[in-house]
Amino acid sequence: TKDKELIRGSWESLGKNKVPHGVVMFSRLFELDPALLNLFHYGTNCDSTQDRLASPEFLEHVTKVMLVIDAAVSHLDDLHSLEDFLLNLGKKHQAVGVRTQSFAVGPASYRTTLPKQFHERMSREHFLFSFFFSCVFLQAVGESLLYMLQCSLGPAYTAPLRQAWLNMYSIVVAVMSRGYAE
Ligand code: HEM
Repeated sequence: TKDKELIRGSWESLGKNKVPHGVVMFSRLFELDPALLNLFHYGTNCDSTQDRLASPEFLEHVTKVMLVIDAAVSHLDDLHSLEDFLLNLGKKHQAVGVRTQSFAVGPASYRTTLPKQFHERMSREHFLFSFFFSCVFLQAVGESLLYMLQCSLGPAYTAPLRQAWLNMYSIVVAVMSRGYAE
């Protein structure tokens, strides 16, 4: 479909230069929510943000994130094949403590951006539990992803393209959130 073409087309050049684009994305994330930086135990709190962002561990995580996006883009036709991987990834981020940082979040309207099957499969408790988790991932991380796309695509960053990426991203987040709640 059109969404898939837009995503694949825009990722073609971006995907060749993952780390610098990932750094743009995460710099934006820490600008939006500086507290998230504390979830990474890279360096010490005395180091400046700049130093910490340049640490090998940070760049490694950036690479991991970009590889997940890369995997999602190349599995657009069968995203469900990534389900186990994403469930597990959500679980790992629960352990990392993303939750504790997730209270400073915005509108409940984001709920409607989650795919329908997400609501059907989740019990209310699980939903509430993962709510906090998905807020961070949907809002701050999602916004940072879009920011990165906007910076690198320039005029090619259009409303339909933005929506296409949001659609894919919200599926990834829904599965990760489910892993978090389980
Ligand atoms: C691992 C934090 C967002 C993908 C980790 C680790 C931490 C962490 C502390 C373990 C240490 C490490 O491997 O570097 C965070 C925080 C995030 C975030 C605070 C944002 C709020 C993401 C996103 C993705 C992602 C958006 C991809 C969609 C991964 C992967 C691993 C990882 C693939 C390795 C898991 C493994 O060891 O199997 N994350 N992360 N992270 N993260 Fe994240």
